[in-house]
Order: sequence, then C-alpha cells, then structure tokens
Amino acid sequence: MTTTVNESTAGGAARQATGLPRLLPAAPEDLRGHLARYGAPPYRGSRDRAGVLIGDVEASGLTGRGGAAFPVYRKMAIVARARAGRKVIVANGSESEPASRKDELLLRIAPNLVLDGLQLAAEAVGATEAHLYLHYGPTPEILRALAERASRGLDGLGVTITQAPPRFLAGQETALVNRLGGGPALPTFQPPRVTERGLGGAPTLVQNVETLAHLALIARYGPRWFRAAGTDAEPGSMLTTVYRPDAKTQVFEAEIGVPLRTLLSGGAETQAWLVGGYHGTWLPMPQAAGLTLANDTLKRFEASVGAGVLVALPADRCGLTEAARVTGYLAAESAGQCGPCLNGLPRIAAGLAELAGPGHRRQTRADVERWAGLVTGRGACNHPDGTVRFVRSALTVFAPEIALHARGQCSATNRKPFLPLPNGMPTSEDDWT
Ligand SMILES: Cc1cc2nc3c(=O)[nH]c(=O)nc-3n(C[C@H](O)[C@H](O)[C@H](O)COP(=O)(O)O)c2cc1C
Ligand code: SF4
Repeated sequence: MTTTVNESTAGGAARQATGLPRLLPAAPEDLRGHLARYGAPPYRGSRDRAGVLIGDVEASGLTGRGGAAFPVYRKMAIVARARAGRKVIVANGSESEPASRKDELLLRIAPNLVLDGLQLAAEAVGATEAHLYLHYGPTPEILRALAERASRGLDGLGVTITQAPPRFLAGQETALVNRLGGGPALPTFQPPRVTERGLGGAPTLVQNVETLAHLALIARYGPRWFRAAGTDAEPGSMLTTVYRPDAKTQVFEAEIGVPLRTLLSGGAETQAWLVGGYHGTWLPMPQAAGLTLANDTLKRFEASVGAGVLVALPADRCGLTEAARVTGYLAAESAGQCGPCLNGLPRIAAGLAELAGPGHRRQTRADVERWAGLVTGRGACNHPDGTVRFVRSALTVFAPEIALHARGQCSATNRKPFLPLPNGMPTSEDDWT
C-alpha cells in the first residue's frame, strides 16, 4: 500500500487501512494540528525509563532511512552507554542526493514529528546538545515549529541549525560532524565512529530526519504498531522520491515490501529503473518488474533501496548519456582526498563520457571496468563504491546502447537531460563550507 504526496502541493494523502500515511499529513501541519493528532511527545522523565525507548526501537526493527539502513537501536545504545558528559544528537536533513525530495517535504509539512523524534531520542541517549543539519538552512516552517514548541516548553534541549553545503558528500556523517565543528563538510576515515568520537570528540548520534519521525511514532504507539506495516525483515514504511517517465516527481510513503511496479511505471514508455539514487543500481525493465521495495529482494541484483530515490527512465532517452552525465557529476563531487577519488573517478567518468560519445576506442569499456575494480573499497567513505555500483550497472543495462554508439548511432529521440543535477555546481574548496 502506498500514499502519494505531490512534491509541490502535499495534497491528496488519505488514511489507508494499514495506517498509511504515517508520516505525511495531508497538508502542512503546525504545532496545534500536530498536537491534536498525536498529543505531546511522550517523554519518560528519567534516564532509566527513557532507555526503554531504545528497547522499543530494537523491537520495532527500525533502520536508518538516510541510505544505509543501519539498525537505529545499535547506534543509540552506543551513545547511551558512553560515559556521562557532553553527548550530541544531530538530525540529518541535508538531503545531499540531488534526486531526493523526501526530507525536504517531510520537514516542510511535518516538522514537529521530526523535532519530537530528535528530543525523544536525545532523552533516551542522554544527549546534552541537539542539532539540525539542513539542506535549506533554517526554513520558515522549522523556525516557526521551534518557536511554537519553545513557547509551550515542549523541548528539553535547544536546537542549533546549520545549513549543509549543497554538495553530494555533505550529508555523509563524518562530513556533517566536520561541518558542525566549523570546518569543511569533508568526510574523514573511520574508526573512530562518530557514535564514539564525533562533534568536538563527544559521542554523537546522527540520524536522518525521516528516521527520527518514525522514532517519534514508535515512542507513542510501540514496536508492534510499527511492525504492522512492511515485512518481517524490514518493518515499517518509508518515504520514496519517484521520477516518472513524464518527468513528474512525487514523494510516496510506501510500505516496505510493496511491488516496485506500484510506485514506478514499467510500461512501454520505460526502458530501465534506477533504484537507490546516484549511488544506486540500474535495473533492466523486464527483469526488474517482479522486484519489491525491500533490500532483501533487491540485493540479488546488487541493489538497495538507499534513501528511497526511484527513477523510471523513459524509452526516448539515452540511458548511457544519462549515466555518463551523472558519473561526471559524482566524480566532480569527490572530495579529492583519497587516491580512488583523485585518480579513479575522473578516469571512469571520462571513459563513460567517451562510451556515450559517437564512436570510442575498443578497450574503453574494459578500462572503465578495470578502473572500477581498482577503486572499490579504497576510499575513506563509500563514495567510490557507490559511484562504481552506479557505473557498473549502467555498463550492463545499457550495453546495447554502447554498441550503437560505437557505430556512431544513438537510440534517443529526446535529448533533453532527464536525471536532475544541481544548477551551478560549486567548484572551489570554499564551497564545502
Ligand atoms: C556520500 C554519502 C552521502 C550521504 N548523504 C546523506 C544525506 O544527505 N542525508 C542523510 O540522512 N544521510 C546521508 N548519508 C548517510 C549518513 O552518513 C548517515 O549514515 C545517516 O545520516 C545516519 O542516519 P540514519 O541511520 O537515520 O539513516 C550519506 C552517506 C554517504 C556515504
Ligand atoms: S573516498 Fe573520495 S569522497 Fe570519500 S573521503 Fe576519500 S576522496 Fe573524499
């Protein structure tokens, strides 16, 4: 079961039998509406009792919705166990994937659910400092929600807002910690994990804003309620950003495990699906049609749901050209700190651009595959691995197109770029801050 919310209007959401939508109200909700629907956040009042929430989060099976699907209770437990003293919690709303719109929508129409989750998780782990890291900085909706909550004395911790630079890597958690510390939003090698040594050396819990919204509901309704949607292995619902072949974008709240074809068009107008965004995987149309929105089924195709970006590539576009364009962007977005990004990604991007041009050298495809093998697993963050996943799947799915281009032909009847990229991409070091 799915629920649609048009990106621009947020209208049309309707309560479904399974209880969806859980996160997205039909219209933007201020604090009054939010409290009328959910009541006040159920604080436990003491550290011991607050820790019960971590057990509930474990029982719920909630995983992070920022891309890696890591069990939330495990990070919470590490921060909760750390010695008393300064502890930090961060709601990650940087949404640095250019094709994702779900966090921006959630923060716009249900800011109080995210803020409830931030405060409830803070109480559970004993955080002394709370941050919001936002793509658009302090938006009117967030400022209003914080002011309304302050006037009602709803929040245990004050919240500091920091704007994320509009860079692909800015949302990675070590980049986030560097940025909140006043430095550039560049990733650093782990360990130590930020849960052990994060902002200013303090144990730091970083959770995606959608993850915190789910947590706010688990705190109210419990793990059994959460598990009423989704699959046993991957419970709950998730927000997805869907690009339709007609270039319309929609944010859906969907149960995990729904057939992908209920979200994406698989008709004659679609040639391939991109699942999981720009670190995701291209899937060819007929084979992909039986898949579901669940990592369990997608992993057979070396794919994952990631942060929920799903693209139906129209049949009139050249998938190879689209993949080459995005790979050029990803290579330019590398922080250039590690060998694989510095040397590997630009070569891979240039190779793919050559394949997408008219005619290419015989060995270019093999070179791209070889370079992809060389960069895998060798970066401080997983940017090279994610980029290579995207590139390898493009080489497979668009192999017929590569053959056409080698003969100076192309199947596209529409040359308009389809996959979104940021305008006026920054190019200097200063742009990381
Ligand atoms: C290149 C890269 C970009 C990322 N961008 C984001 C992002 O924009 N928003 C986000 O919440 N997590 C992002 N992440 C994941 C974060 O590192 C971190 O795992 C996440 O914020 C933790 O929250 P979650 O467990 O609730 O998903 C990114 C990771 C990588 C490797
Ligand atoms: S792997 Fe690439 S993106 Fe990640 S830290 Fe190293 S240079 Fe930066």
